[in-house]
Amino acid sequence: MLLAIETSCDETGVALFSEEGKLIKDVLYSQVALHSPFGGVVPELASRKQLEVLYPLIKSLLEERKVSLKELKAIAVTYGPGLIGSLLVGVTFAKTLALALKIPLIAVDHIFAHLFSIFLEREISFPFIGLIVSGGHTALFLVKDFENCELLGHTRDDAAGEVFDKVAKLLGLPYPGGPIISALAELGDPDRYDLPRPMLEEDTFDFSFSGLKTAVYMLLKKEKNFVKEDVCASFQKAICEVLVNKTLKAARVLNVPNVVVAGGVSANDFLRKLFLSKKEKEEIYFPSKKFCTDNAAMVGFLGWIKWKKGEFADLRQEPYARAFFKKAKNLPRT
Ligand code: KG4
Ligand code: ZN
Repeated sequence: MLLAIETSCDETGVALFSEEGKLIKDVLYSQVALHSPFGGVVPELASRKQLEVLYPLIKSLLEERKVSLKELKAIAVTYGPGLIGSLLVGVTFAKTLALALKIPLIAVDHIFAHLFSIFLEREISFPFIGLIVSGGHTALFLVKDFENCELLGHTRDDAAGEVFDKVAKLLGLPYPGGPIISALAELGDPDRYDLPRPMLEEDTFDFSFSGLKTAVYMLLKKEKNFVKEDVCASFQKAICEVLVNKTLKAARVLNVPNVVVAGGVSANDFLRKLFLSKKEKEEIYFPSKKFCTDNAAMVGFLGWIKWKKGEFADLRQEPYARAFFKKAKNLPRT
């Protein structure tokens, strides 16, 4: 059996996989209530909480499934990117357990775990265009197989989820901003306020969202009697149009009709509907909502793929806070 651990930010996730790659069970401890009053994740609080809850979570999962430590044959853990304190808790725990049990340790990258989370529920044929939209990252990939992912573009400043969270804060709404903005937007008019669609027409697959966030800030200063629901709906439409248009453009320019959208923001209903209404010959795949946001099941799946290939981590390997993928060379013009 394989044990998977996810502690890259404010969620503590643990999962068990069978040797055949079947998800047996995944559990999650969410710290949302802890960070909500601060309007965002407080890194020091996050890592302390990870330390407190990780071991009890693993213990109760093993007890519930009646799995003994001896039955664990490999451990997969998120190495980065993320908050370094939170990552250190999971990685140190995994290294210690792997050393004590003399079993392989597998290093999983959080972004690629999101990218392949769709495989928890269905097979997708390669190649596909993968859009990752989370709280920490916004990136577009051409995915040729599990090892071969070419970065087409990424955000030059804020990530999409981060902007949802920051706009929520401007509106006095709690963290995380995505779900609450999405719920309020349902009641609002998406065409009420004119907001920019950054970099939509530019010849690049990169994104930039900090200007959109500033535009919302300026709007709230100017319109003293703004309607919260209309601001949410207009903002949501602006950001989703950029994400959908750029992703579909990549699918068409590269002639790759399979598109996978993953990461926390892919749980957004408006984004899902917009993709489906704008697609032509493309097939758009979204993971179930519980696999969009952080979880250990996605870490376990990619960990299992690496386990079967014998790709093991060196115990001296350290976790990393920042993503280090490079953009593909000779990108086609958009
Ligand atoms: O993937 P994730 O759980 O964590 C990171 O890897 O960052 O993504 C969290 C982000 C948060 O910014 C949250 O506001 C956003 O995903 N999010 C949403 C929705 N649900 C979560 N954004 C828009 N609409 C949603 N329904
Ligand atoms: Zn994530």
